[in-house]
Amino acid sequence: MLSHFLSKLQLLKMKFEKEIEDIKNEILSELNLSSSKKEIEDIRIKYLGRKGIITQRLKDIKNLDPKVRPRHGKVLNILKSTIEEELERKGQKVAKESREEERFFDYTMPGDRRWLGHLHPLTTTMDEIVDVFVRMGFTVKYGPDVETEFYNFEALNMPKDHPSRDIQDTFYLENNLLLRTQTSPVQIRVMESRKPPVRIISPGRCYRVDNFDSSHSPVFHQIEGLYVDKNVTLSDLIGTLNTFAKAIFGESTRTKLTPHYFPFTEPSAEVHVSCPFCKEKGCTTCKHTGWIEIMGCGMVHPEVFRKVGYDPDKYTGFAFGMGIERVCMPRYGIHDMRLFFENDQRFIHQF
Ligand code: DAH
Repeated sequence: MLSHFLSKLQLLKMKFEKEIEDIKNEILSELNLSSSKKEIEDIRIKYLGRKGIITQRLKDIKNLDPKVRPRHGKVLNILKSTIEEELERKGQKVAKESREEERFFDYTMPGDRRWLGHLHPLTTTMDEIVDVFVRMGFTVKYGPDVETEFYNFEALNMPKDHPSRDIQDTFYLENNLLLRTQTSPVQIRVMESRKPPVRIISPGRCYRVDNFDSSHSPVFHQIEGLYVDKNVTLSDLIGTLNTFAKAIFGESTRTKLTPHYFPFTEPSAEVHVSCPFCKEKGCTTCKHTGWIEIMGCGMVHPEVFRKVGYDPDKYTGFAFGMGIERVCMPRYGIHDMRLFFENDQRFIHQF
């Protein structure tokens, strides 16, 4: 009876030790296959975490036969510390390997792409337009973006309550200042400062309360032109604009003037150029008209001359103002004005 009991205990002991040995081997082989901090941590949790296999076995000791408890406790604790040591050893090995990997630098890999700066299409178009007029004897003058009502409107024959102010919805600032709605005030500043002959162009930014959509922007660019001397005629204006249009849109470009109204010129006209894409056949760029409107122009109004102290009986002159976006869009086939202001490098680098 006694021998039978002992052998049963012996058997249980052998079974338990075999089980522990199996667990240990399983953990070691899992650890052997692991290669990252995360995998090692998962193994720790699986066996030594709060609900881990070894932790559970240690908790279960209290339910065992008191005779086997000390033995089981000892074996399980040895297993636990062996596994802790193995986890630590493997953790250090993986950390060392990943540090070495970081230090490795492959010189044959292609480098990171860095965008180089690039001129904006509005800048290049503006520079080219300025160049054309400089070759014809015009000089460049700049005026301020923040203007007074006098220069932006009154001196240009647009008195208060004049209906033509309505179409140029204005950003007003404090102290009767405003953001200029056109580059035309530069005409006045130049004429005030010197006697004829005057032959200037003036590029710059303009501002109007407008939507930001495919054909409008509250900020846009213009180039103003002014030529005043004795005997300047409408033919001079037409000849000058023809030369400009051919230089910018190509030799075969034709120019057309249609009557219009501007308070500061008389007569006034709108200038259209033949569509550089379809050669007047009609396409989406010219909205199937064959022509593209790019600027306003006219002969300087005598009233404007009087405001700056020029004698309208002695001098005549022509003036024009063009939208640079208006010139740039058909030139490059750009259909959405917003692209100019979003500064997407992929757009800018195409020009
Ligand atoms: N300032 C006008 C505008 O913004 C354009 C313009 C028209 C300018 C006729 C001129 C001109 O100098 O003579 O709509």
